[in-house]
Amino acid sequence: MWARSALNLSDLSSGHTKAPDRRIVRVGVLVSGNGSNLQSIIDHVEAGKLAAEVACVISNREQAHALERARRHSIPALFLDYRSFPDREAFDAAAVDALRGHGVELVALAGFNRIVSRVMLDAFPGAILNIHPALLPAFPGSHAQRQALEHGVRIAGCTVHFVDDGMDTGPIIAQAAVPVLDNDTEETLSARILKQEHRIYPGAIQLFVEGRIRLEGRRVLIDRDGENVTGSLCNPPF
Ligand code: GRF
Repeated sequence: MWARSALNLSDLSSGHTKAPDRRIVRVGVLVSGNGSNLQSIIDHVEAGKLAAEVACVISNREQAHALERARRHSIPALFLDYRSFPDREAFDAAAVDALRGHGVELVALAGFNRIVSRVMLDAFPGAILNIHPALLPAFPGSHAQRQALEHGVRIAGCTVHFVDDGMDTGPIIAQAAVPVLDNDTEETLSARILKQEHRIYPGAIQLFVEGRIRLEGRRVLIDRDGENVTGSLCNPPF
């Protein structure tokens, strides 16, 4: 998926991100399709593992299953028909109005297939996240899993990042890696990656909510109380 974001690094560079510690943050989720990442966020909220509330879901596609998922959980679900807006900025202005109307503080793009304009970026500086099904900066843009297969990488994965004004270029908050198997198709690899997306997106949002994310240049530093990652993934295993 691709979401060209529009935040300057300067919007993010003042140390910890804005969300105050230990309170419920209202998240607006932008979707276009199935919404399995949305579902994972909802499930984590309902399980008490994510101190957030999904305040509203906005889709640019009327048939997006994600809208149905939201309604099942009594979450306001809105379809915005991009064909009824003259340009991307006008679409984003309507989306921003809706997000603000629901008190949204953090915007999560989850399979949203539109490029985000400056209008959205300026409305939520430092508070727009995206999930991408590749280990960025490799394979930005669409069909990331196909790109990974065609390139022949043996380790693929997914990335949660801040949205800035490039194409999948914002500072990286979290990544998960999976092996690429010799008999993988785009579908099997995508499914393996998606499982990890469902773990790291709620996890990254929780870090944001807890104010544990700090930007140093392009690097996102994460306060994890000294807890560090260990181990490695090697494919083939040696
Ligand atoms: C995910 O692979 C996500 O990384 C990409 O689009 C897909 C959306 O899947 N941006 P879903 O709609 O969340 O099921």
